[in-house]
Amino acid sequence: MGPVTAADIALDIRDLRKAFGGVRAVDGCTLAFPRGKISGLIGPNGSGKTTTFNLLTGVAMPDSGQIFYKGEDLAGMKPYQVFRRGITRTFQVTRVFREMTVLENMLCVTALNVSERVARARAYELIDFVSLTRLRGEYAGRLSYGQQKLLEFARALMTDPEVILLDEPAAGVNRTLLQDLLAHIHGLQERGKTIVIVEHDMNVIMNHCARIFVMDYGVKIAEGPPAEIQKDERVIEAYFGRRRG
Ligand SMILES: Nc1ncnc2c1ncn2[C@@H]1O[C@H](COP(=O)(O)OP(=O)(O)O)[C@@H](O)[C@H]1O
Ligand SMILES: [Mg+2]
Repeated sequence: MGPVTAADIALDIRDLRKAFGGVRAVDGCTLAFPRGKISGLIGPNGSGKTTTFNLLTGVAMPDSGQIFYKGEDLAGMKPYQVFRRGITRTFQVTRVFREMTVLENMLCVTALNVSERVARARAYELIDFVSLTRLRGEYAGRLSYGQQKLLEFARALMTDPEVILLDEPAAGVNRTLLQDLLAHIHGLQERGKTIVIVEHDMNVIMNHCARIFVMDYGVKIAEGPPAEIQKDERVIEAYFGRRRG
């Protein structure tokens, strides 16, 4: 493999910072997520992973730092501005509309620059893609937690995004659904999408990510392929070395 060039980087995050009062959630974090690959973003609880996703997607405003995407700095943009540029995400705690059906959840995505008919066709296709066909007319609140995660995942794909950020997609998802989800994630990668997964399930991270980024106390402490990360002293120390408050 040759050197990593700017063209290989989808999201280039430099010295990103965000504090909540005295808590420095993201504390000068620099990350370069490779284009067209599945990356893992891991770290102990409270290490700043979700905040990083929030900063990337305009859900939170960075105190400082840059987020380069296609030559543009996304830092400080509003969520819809980031979304329009082809970056989408799912949330650690699912945000499906429980009082709406599966299909309605899919169709309520805004910023779709297509006709209602095309949107509908796409929604049907994605519902099939995540094997929720039978539940298309069901209220989202009646789905299992794992099925809600799949719905949120499918909804994130309505705009055909280029970058997909998944915050703990495996949590609460049963093994069968998880295998489906992982197959879908690989399918997206094969179609050239850039995927970043925040996940506690080490099997998911180690077996499915090309590159892993490790955060602790708001900074990146390690980066590399799974085999390297598994034996990295700093990573082992961060996970097992000390008691965390
Ligand atoms: N909105 C917020 N207000 C105050 N503190 C927050 C907020 N969001 C996150 N934090 C704090 O920032 C730190 C990082 O949190 P988070 O990014 O959720 O970590 P992770 O996703 O890695 O578990 C934690 O100490 C958390 O309590
Ligand atoms: Mg989190």
